[in-house]
Amino acid sequence: MQQQLTDVRERMIVALDFSTMDEVKKCLEPLSGHIRYVKVGMELAYAEGPAIVSYLKEQGLKVFVDLKVHDIPNTAKGAMKSLARLGADMVNVHAAGGVAMMAAAREGLELGTAAGAARPLLIGVTMLTSTGMQTMNQELAIPGSVEDVVVHYAMMTKQAGLDGVVASPLEVPMIKQAAGESFVTVTPGIRPLGTDQGDQTRITTPEQAFRLGSDYLVIGRAITGAKDPAGVWQSIVAAVEADRA
Ligand code: C5P
Repeated sequence: MQQQLTDVRERMIVALDFSTMDEVKKCLEPLSGHIRYVKVGMELAYAEGPAIVSYLKEQGLKVFVDLKVHDIPNTAKGAMKSLARLGADMVNVHAAGGVAMMAAAREGLELGTAAGAARPLLIGVTMLTSTGMQTMNQELAIPGSVEDVVVHYAMMTKQAGLDGVVASPLEVPMIKQAAGESFVTVTPGIRPLGTDQGDQTRITTPEQAFRLGSDYLVIGRAITGAKDPAGVWQSIVAAVEADRA
């Protein structure tokens, strides 16, 4: 299904990491008519509630509601039912919740999706990119390398019937090799050439991320923090299209 999205603008998700509707409106103003897909994280969702999703949908945008659900299967199922009713296009859970929780989440999502409407994409978060090998081995008591655990979590996610995972673009080739080309990858950690790395470590440019096989890119501050957000957006689209030509 994802491979049908030939327009790269449908595959670049702008992270709206703000806490008020006013900030969102200010951010969207110059980007209106350019961007197609946005991400609402915990900061914005907890501050503005479901109204923010309705507002963004009314603007004609697709919405990834990034709440990283992680709870007992029955609660995860209920959470997904509510999220589907909000009209989200993409939602996620922590793969660490296990196969039963992820399968229940998918069931909830199907129950909440209106008849005839497309079910939101359901994505698993593998190992958070902020978790390094030492933290994973010593604090979480999970042995092995982060890469092996990411692939293991991706396979669990697939087994539970989810559509794909959130991962670093650098992990995409091994995930696709293990789980198949059609298994969706959503990748943050994107930095166009010349932009500030910030707190991200395993970063790539948008062109590299698509070349590595990412299906969706999540881009935040490089666009939302720019003096000319529409200009940055257009230069990213141009660079990606030139790279794919
Ligand atoms: O500003 P920046 O491009 O770094 O924003 C990346 C977005 O992706 C943020 O909303 C962040 O919460 C999210 N994210 C991430 N790493 C993950 C999962 C989500 O950076 N592993």
